[in-house]
Amino acid sequence: MDWIALLLGLLGLLLLALFLYWQLVIAEGAYLGSRVVVLLYDWSAHVYERIKQYDVGDEQWFLGLPLGRALELIPAPLVLDVATGTGRLPRALLRQPAFDGRVIGLDLSRRMLRHALRLTAQFAGRLTYVWQDAARLPFGDDTFDAVTCLEALEFVPDPRAVLAELVRVLRPGGVLVVTNRVGREARFLPGRAFPRAQFEHVLRGLPLEEAKVRPWQVDYDLAWAIKAGEPRGGGVRPLLEIMRCPACGGRLARQAGAFRCTNCARTYPVAGDGVIEMAGSIQYTPPQR
Ligand SMILES: C[S@@+](CC[C@H](N)C(=O)[O-])C[C@H]1O[C@@H](n2cnc3c(N)ncnc32)[C@H](O)[C@@H]1O
Repeated sequence: MDWIALLLGLLGLLLLALFLYWQLVIAEGAYLGSRVVVLLYDWSAHVYERIKQYDVGDEQWFLGLPLGRALELIPAPLVLDVATGTGRLPRALLRQPAFDGRVIGLDLSRRMLRHALRLTAQFAGRLTYVWQDAARLPFGDDTFDAVTCLEALEFVPDPRAVLAELVRVLRPGGVLVVTNRVGREARFLPGRAFPRAQFEHVLRGLPLEEAKVRPWQVDYDLAWAIKAGEPRGGGVRPLLEIMRCPACGGRLARQAGAFRCTNCARTYPVAGDGVIEMAGSIQYTPPQR
C-alpha cells in the first residue's frame, strides 16, 4: 500500500514538473498572462544575449540588409520594432550605412529595455525606447514605414489582435516583418504559434498584400508583407505628432519630464535613461473642464 502511495506521489511530482516545464520554459509564461512573461524576461534580461548568441554577420545579412533595402527609396524612414527585447532589430538596421532613418523600440520588460539601451548606445540619437504593451501601441494609424515584431507573437495573450495592431500603425505601402514560431516546440504553443498555412491565412485576413512566409531560423518562420492602400505619408516625424495615449487614444503634449494626454490627462514619464514609460501608467487625473 505504501509503495502505491509513493508511486502515485512520484507520478504527481513528475506531472507537476512537466507542467511547470511546459508553462515556464517552453511557453515562457505565455498562458499565465503578460505579467508572468514579463517577470521571466525581467529576471533573465542579463543573460538574454548570452543565450541567444546572435551572430552580427547573420543579423546583418538576414535582417538589417533586406529591411534596409526594402526601405531604401524612402527618405529617413521611421521604423517601429515591437517587443524589441535587447534591441536586436535596431542594431541590425542602424548598422546599415544606407539606412538614414529612426527606430522606435517598444517592449513590456523594463529590464530588457535597459540592456537594449546599453547595447545600442552608439545609435542613441536615432533611437527611442518605449515601455509599453504590444496590445496597445501608443501611436496613430498609418504612421510607420516599417513595423517589425520578432520572436514575440507567441508570448502575447492574443497574437491575432497584436498583428492587427502592428498593421494599424503601419502606413499603406509600409513593410511588415513578423515571425511565427515553428519547429518542435511550436506544437506545445496552441493558439500562439500557427502552422505555416494557418499563419498565411491569418495574414490574408489583414489589409496586406504580397505577404510571403518563409522558413527563417530553426524555430521561426519570417513573414514579409506590404500594407495595402495608396502609399502615403511616412518618414521621420516628431514624437508628439505620432504618439497617442495608450489608454484613450488622445494626443499627447510635452510637460516637464513627461508626456501628458490632452484628453484624459494621464501622464507618462520620460525616465532618466530616456525611456518613455507608459506601461507603469501612473495616477489618473480626471480631465479638467
Ligand atoms: C524572445 S524575446 C524577442 C526580443 C527581440 N525581438 C529579439 O528578436 O531578440 C520576446 C520579447 O517580447 C517581449 N514581450 C512579451 N510580451 C510582450 C508584450 N505584451 N508587449 C511587449 N513586449 C512583450 C519580452 O519582454 C521580450 O523582450
